[in-house]
Amino acid sequence: MSHSDQPAGDKLWGGRFSARPDPRIEAFTHSLPFDRRMAAQDVRGSIAHCRMLGRQGILSAEDAAAIEAGLREIQAEIEAGVIIEGAEDIHTWVEMRLREKIGPVAGRLHSARSRNDQVATDTRLYLRERAQALDTALARFQAVLLEQAGEHEETVLPGYTHLQHAQPVVLAHHLLAYFWMLERDRDRLADWATRASALPLGAAALAGTPYPIDRKFVARELGFARVCENSLDAISDRDFVLELAAVLTILQVHLSRLAEEIVLWSTREFGFIELSDRVATGSSIMPQKKNPDVAELARGKTGRVVGNLTALLTVMKGLPLAYNSDMQEDKERIFDSLDTVEGCAQALTLVLETATFCTERMRAATVGDFSTATDLADYLALRGVPFREAHAAVGQLVRRLEEQGRTLESLTGEELAAAHPAFAGAPADLVSVDASVRARRSPGGTAPEEVRRQLAQARAAWEARGA
Ligand code: ARG
Repeated sequence: MSHSDQPAGDKLWGGRFSARPDPRIEAFTHSLPFDRRMAAQDVRGSIAHCRMLGRQGILSAEDAAAIEAGLREIQAEIEAGVIIEGAEDIHTWVEMRLREKIGPVAGRLHSARSRNDQVATDTRLYLRERAQALDTALARFQAVLLEQAGEHEETVLPGYTHLQHAQPVVLAHHLLAYFWMLERDRDRLADWATRASALPLGAAALAGTPYPIDRKFVARELGFARVCENSLDAISDRDFVLELAAVLTILQVHLSRLAEEIVLWSTREFGFIELSDRVATGSSIMPQKKNPDVAELARGKTGRVVGNLTALLTVMKGLPLAYNSDMQEDKERIFDSLDTVEGCAQALTLVLETATFCTERMRAATVGDFSTATDLADYLALRGVPFREAHAAVGQLVRRLEEQGRTLESLTGEELAAAHPAFAGAPADLVSVDASVRARRSPGGTAPEEVRRQLAQARAAWEARGA
């Protein structure tokens, strides 16, 4: 018999078929090369299902015990790194392996379930574990930000808008901005996990099952808070994949912005950060080069994560209820997003942890940059001058100084008083960057005392979550 004449007897669905699929078609349709990542989850789901079948009398006690024992062996093999190959998908592989171990009784496990509810369950279990691991990586990242912030409560650098020097800020303030972004990312992950904590198993192929199953028992066994209420919805929606992909994309965009700042700050022009040799690379031709590759790659990999979200949304947008094979395309995309985001978070953590901030360069960059001009206008406005009038007076002063090639720091008391009468008696350090940051004590502002308060709050939030 040629290959294609053989009945498809090794397939879970072989009964109806008189010929095997063409090997090219098998290669095209098989998901094992990527869904084998969910092997442990598949076995766990099967153990819970098997126990439920035994409790409900759908399987005899002996059969349930034999199946569970076989599944436990498979679990151990998976933990030991067994090579998973030679089947259509992970569900088929586990059942095949079970049959090798315990014989035909393995065939009883699939009562009251389908690969459709199985794959939805496995995917939820797997993503939940990965999201937990990612959260731990983010906690570590935040810890580094908190640590660095603690060392730079008074380190002044230019704050930017439009990438132009705007107003001076302290470095801790800048770093804490990323802390709060990651804090919201962790919130989003936790919200997602709550919503995703519903069990699809028991929906069977799409319409439910005539067996007297106990879905709540299976949910408890697998740590799901609820069961999915509608069997069609349970097997056919992938909103939990889309939502996680969206959460990851927002997170990756945060990482990418930080990465971009690392790239900028490590240029000769900025010189605000010195990367450790452990996390930078050189050029094969230019001996002087030290490149911020990790940050560049983290920025560049954002393209994949955004692309994965787009791909997932596109896969789902035209699917009629209920299961469709299109959904097999969800796994590689969401796995890639998880791998990418976690990898970027870990690499950037190391970059930041080992970086040196060039605090003198930062301060020097604020000299002569007119970034305290707002302080002059605020000074007038706080003394009753309408802010617009104050803005105009200081604007003219800045223009005059620029024409003369001078800076705000060179202003004399008399020149100030000449610019506006309300400047009479102004303190000498009015235009200093230190006075400028000290003055911004509004909640969330850059004054060191306010940043210290914020840092304490951030630390408390971090502790409260438990890493
Ligand atoms: N490999 C499939 C997936 O990832 C598993 C479900 C298969 N179900 C089916 N009826 N072909 O979606």
